[in-house]
Amino acid sequence: MKITHVNNELNLSHIQHRVQLRGWVSKSRRMGGMIFIDIRDRFGITQLTVDQHSAAYEQALLLRQEFVIHVSGIVVERQSKNPSLKTGEIEVQIDQLTIINTSETPPMLVLDETDALENTRLTYRYLDLRRPIQQNFLMMRSNITQTIRKVLVQEGFYELETPILGKSTPEGARDFLVPSRLYEQQFYALPQSPQIFKQLYMVAGFEKYFQIARCFRDEDLRADRQLEFTQVDIEASFVDQEDVIALIENIMTTLFLEILNVSIQTPFLRMPYDQAILTYGSDKPDMRFDLELKTLEATYKNNESPLLSLDHQAYILIDRVITRKEIDMLTETYKKHGGHILSYAKKEEDSFSGPLTKHFSNEQLQQLLSKNNDMIILATGSFNQVYEPLGAVRQQLGKILDLITPQTYKFLWVVDFPLFEYSEEDGRLYARHHPFTSPKNEDEMINQPLTAKANAYDIVLNGYEIGGGSIRIFKQELQQKMFEMLGLKKEEIVNRFGFFTEALKYGTPHGGIALGLDRLIMLMTNTENIKDVIAFPKTQSARDMMMDAPSTVDEKQLEEIHIKVKL
Ligand code: AMO
Repeated sequence: MKITHVNNELNLSHIQHRVQLRGWVSKSRRMGGMIFIDIRDRFGITQLTVDQHSAAYEQALLLRQEFVIHVSGIVVERQSKNPSLKTGEIEVQIDQLTIINTSETPPMLVLDETDALENTRLTYRYLDLRRPIQQNFLMMRSNITQTIRKVLVQEGFYELETPILGKSTPEGARDFLVPSRLYEQQFYALPQSPQIFKQLYMVAGFEKYFQIARCFRDEDLRADRQLEFTQVDIEASFVDQEDVIALIENIMTTLFLEILNVSIQTPFLRMPYDQAILTYGSDKPDMRFDLELKTLEATYKNNESPLLSLDHQAYILIDRVITRKEIDMLTETYKKHGGHILSYAKKEEDSFSGPLTKHFSNEQLQQLLSKNNDMIILATGSFNQVYEPLGAVRQQLGKILDLITPQTYKFLWVVDFPLFEYSEEDGRLYARHHPFTSPKNEDEMINQPLTAKANAYDIVLNGYEIGGGSIRIFKQELQQKMFEMLGLKKEEIVNRFGFFTEALKYGTPHGGIALGLDRLIMLMTNTENIKDVIAFPKTQSARDMMMDAPSTVDEKQLEEIHIKVKL
């Protein structure tokens, strides 16, 4: 069934043209002897009219929401125009109408302002995806992916694939395992990222690789995390940190210009990891607003006060007194992030109040709170109980104080990451990025691992980590040493990574990065939930509502893969 136009195209220049359209019935209503129909496709909406003398009238009477129709008619100027619609100046008087398919009454309103619960939306995701806002998210997704691909191809990168069934790669999360049918008691692991394979491409001499890669991580879900997600995975040989940064800045500026018509200044801001934590309480600080963390001078230390005698303290000074309810919200956030004690003092009408006042002299308060309506929020405790929790408070304050201008994009590179993290609980070192990241200094790695820095970098946008990468270890001995420092025994290294350390005997210098494509799209579409930009996402509790997965399988299937379910 041919069409002449899609549903966002017709305007006054088409008056008196005969047109043919196709789409879903968004609305159909009778008024007097007329029927008004809104027909919708992924481009937009056109209003159709049928009068009672039209040959299409009998058919039009049958129409219900979401019927699929094809129509033919004449474009006329509308009497009452609708400026919010692209086709709002015209309507089409139809005289031919074919019902291509009828529809059940949908279980949810197929409108941007739907009142459907998330579970209903995800169960009937194919209807949810018909909503214009969702269509827009996914069309943007396609455009963003294509633009990134275009830049990388222009820069001479090859798009190459890597296996999905492989061996566990140590990206830090739990693996999804796939039992093997042919090898009893053996498992494949789904890739947490193509990390090892992309490095092997470098050994193989493919100097510039990229892939729009699916990754799988069995971790707890959050608003910006899914079990399976997509990375723009990049690796190149003979590069340093500056080369990778320049490439990503090129991708981002092209992307924001072509997709959002926003020009982004380069070079992006850069900040060492230590500074990010001390100044913003986060390794992914939102740079759209200031609110820096400050520490009290030594003179404020007071061993009499249970608060000010603690090891670490940091505060945020704001110039507006916030409400009790807002303070409670901040305290909840602080605690949720592992904070210890959060307290405050404020100055209103030249007098000080708040629980903190009793820990300071009047003089000290005067110095801290110099103006009326000043307020300080102070965190005290161990380092981990102070900085990151207060960073989360800072982020929430940014919203409460309305400091974030919508549709601004502040990029930041966080650099000079620690190479390792020490886990008190396990009594061992972990790689901060992953075990293939090279140290800035090899001696430091071996002799002062706790302060050693890595050749690693993260790209942050508006407080979200949208990518991370590093310059890799490419020599076998150093890689071996790294594994040993991470507590791996010699046989374990051979069993798990033998093929890889073997490959590094033929190694070439290389480095790369992976962008979290879903997170990037989420930010570019101004939504706050990653699910919005993924066609068929999992719920927060890791279920696919539509397919009802995960689900049980037949006994026979289990037998074939040598699995017995323990009840
Ligand atoms: P990393 O683990 O930092 O690095 O991942 C890269 C980026 O992927 C995104 N991301 C996620 N997005 C949605 N849901 C998730 N569960 C999720 N986990 C990560 C983030 C993150 O910045 N192999 C290395 C990259 C490299 O070194 O080149 C890696 O995977 O935006």
